[in-house]
Amino acid sequence: MHVLLTGASGFVGRELCRRLLADLHTVTAVSRSPDRCREVLGVEDVVAWADLDAAFLKGIDAVVHLAGESVQGRWNAAKRSQVRTSRIEGTQAIVDAIRRAANKPGVLLSASGIGFYGCGGESTLTEASSAGDDYFAALCLDWEALALGAEACGCRVGLLRFGMILGQGGGAISAMLTPAKWGISGPLGTGKQWWSWVGIDDAVSAIIFSLTTSISGPINIVAPTPIRQSEFQRTLGRVLSRPAFLPAPAFVLRLILGTFAEEVLASKRVVPTALSEAGFTWAVPNLEDALARSV
Ligand SMILES: NC(=O)c1ccc[n+]([C@@H]2O[C@H](COP(=O)([O-])OP(=O)(O)OC[C@H]3O[C@@H](n4cnc5c(N)ncnc54)[C@H](OP(=O)(O)O)[C@@H]3O)[C@@H](O)[C@H]2O)c1
Repeated sequence: MHVLLTGASGFVGRELCRRLLADLHTVTAVSRSPDRCREVLGVEDVVAWADLDAAFLKGIDAVVHLAGESVQGRWNAAKRSQVRTSRIEGTQAIVDAIRRAANKPGVLLSASGIGFYGCGGESTLTEASSAGDDYFAALCLDWEALALGAEACGCRVGLLRFGMILGQGGGAISAMLTPAKWGISGPLGTGKQWWSWVGIDDAVSAIIFSLTTSISGPINIVAPTPIRQSEFQRTLGRVLSRPAFLPAPAFVLRLILGTFAEEVLASKRVVPTALSEAGFTWAVPNLEDALARSV
């Protein structure tokens, strides 16, 4: 299979690219910085976004679209705008190229997030649950709606609603590790909110599974075992042999993270119904094992 991959130089993209090449697929990456991307990935076939046109899609069987400004860090108005614009413009460019292409890829898998669901409290959230009403939920709705535009071209479209991806060298865990190693971690807010996570190896396996089966529509890419945030923190403390009792009150998180604090404080008890029903199996369904592979 020849896969066109955006965001290939990122945390998920690097691992996906490595696994696709190891499985003898062909990868063409799309990047803002092709030279840097070639260096990071060790592959030659990298194009700039500006060169992505309809003709370029000739021979491409599948598109995996992961690119977007990182959501990590303090969210002020400028950051919120970058997070949104990068996702809306990138997805629009991909769908426009597919629309114009004479030979269309059979499948588009487009990243999204469980931020789609907003704050779900104690409810169990499946792909059938409705969208939340906060900033990130609205962004996910718009981002997904654009990707679904490729269906009109006969493309199968999968919406990859990632939970918190755990692994080395990226994602939220990289920001949590330093304070946790110093023993200055603990419940965030009340700590009662649910967090839904997935190990990087399972996240990448789920993308490859979605490429090679006929699954479509929203796909929750999470482990089947969501956990309360305070228990997540205790498990991380156990893995690092460090205590995890220093709470970070909600108002402190809002001061440090801006709007992004709402993502950390929101309860998302998300389960992977679509993947389970399609027969996907998780290599690492246990949080302690996933964290041990991430530190
Ligand atoms: N990691 C998680 O826990 C998680 C959870 C939920 C959802 N997601 C979503 O899954 C996707 C992949 O996640 P990731 O962790 O691999 O992301 P990442 O490490 O931040 O990488 C994303 C890639 O997107 C490109 N990019 C960065 N800023 C951009 C901008 N302003 N405009 C256009 N492109 C930009 C970069 O590639 P180039 O520099 O080569 O262009 C970068 O390597 C993202 O859309 C993310 O929102 C991830």
